[in-house]
Amino acid sequence: MHDPTLHLESRCIHGGQQVDPTTGAVMPPIYTSSTFVQESPGVHKGFEYSRSHNVTRFAFERCIANLESSGLSESDDRTCGGFAFASGLAAISTALELFDSGATILCMDDVYGGTNRLLQRVRRRSQGLKVVFADLSDAKSVAHAAAQHRPALIWAETPSNPTLKIVDIAAIAAAGQSVGAITAVDNTFASPILQRPIELGIDLVMHSVTKYIGGHSDVVGGCLVTGRKDLAEKLRFMQNAIGSVMGPFDGYLTLRGAKTLGLRMARHCESAMVIAKWLEQHPAVERVVYPGLASHPHHALAAKQMRLNGSPAFGGMITIFLKGGLAESRAFLEKVHLFALAESLGGVESLIEHPAIMTHASVPPAERATLGISDSLVRLSVGIERVDDLIADLEGALPKG
Ligand SMILES: Cc1ncc(COP(=O)(O)O)c(C=O)c1O
Repeated sequence: MHDPTLHLESRCIHGGQQVDPTTGAVMPPIYTSSTFVQESPGVHKGFEYSRSHNVTRFAFERCIANLESSGLSESDDRTCGGFAFASGLAAISTALELFDSGATILCMDDVYGGTNRLLQRVRRRSQGLKVVFADLSDAKSVAHAAAQHRPALIWAETPSNPTLKIVDIAAIAAAGQSVGAITAVDNTFASPILQRPIELGIDLVMHSVTKYIGGHSDVVGGCLVTGRKDLAEKLRFMQNAIGSVMGPFDGYLTLRGAKTLGLRMARHCESAMVIAKWLEQHPAVERVVYPGLASHPHHALAAKQMRLNGSPAFGGMITIFLKGGLAESRAFLEKVHLFALAESLGGVESLIEHPAIMTHASVPPAERATLGISDSLVRLSVGIERVDDLIADLEGALPKG
């Protein structure tokens, strides 16, 4: 079903979905078969081998293509421009294979630590990529860096991880077009419920579906979506040629998670706003970074770019700087109960972590210092528990001031 007039919450449930033609099942079966019988060599029902063709994975791929507004139909690409992988990093790795050795990549300076590691410590060596990091949240520096470096790919992440900078997605698309670069946005923190970069002219969207799309911290996966038929053709080839595909059980879990994405995101946004405002007045907190706060340097852009049913909505991620240093951060993180001290984000349960020691340990210390990822920085992923319980948990763990 590809009705573009449906609202996003309805697209989460019906987007790209078909009733199983054999049984009428409303959810696609988990097809575990690795291979498919052929009537005669090369004569088959469109399914040859499960790395290339899997019904359960295809169902999720069509769903995410619909949610990200790929605009492609099944006649353009079998899964309408959606591609699912074994992890978010497997998705990024496959996207990087679109580029020849020696290509220049212009990358947001504040990105997930694993993205930084893949580019700097793997692909610089194995693919000879020239990686230039820049603060793409500064619109002037985007245009300037694009003109100066003439990249083959511009890679942005917005909101960025962990300092929650907001990048002007339309400006990235324009900068890419001006130099003939492919543009990509890691949309993991916002989810397609809040922002759909392809609608703003971006070529490629990536998600760690481990996060909001899966939503229950029970699956690791990734995806790419493109609205360009030529890129869909290349990605279809790469996905099969490289083979880091999402398995059928994970495809099932991810599709199941996506069905409630609209509902969950509304709650994440609502609770995070309440908690961010509460934290902002707490004496033990030096600074709160949340795109929904007027104090956020890119608040106006976030309000324009991140929207839920026509109103601004800012996601479930909050970054705080505590007063003090590592000792104070540790004491706080050891005391929370409801907020689980764990890497990852975007699940129904609230998570909390220390990027300098945990998710961003792979970013070289000097770069961490430049980005402001200090020992007093703590990242919160606000879940969908009752917000009063979450505030009580934070209150019990923070020093009284
Ligand atoms: C913004 C962002 N992008 C990409 C990734 C990588 O995804 P995965 O862990 O599914 O490989 C993560 C993981 O934390 C992330 O937060």
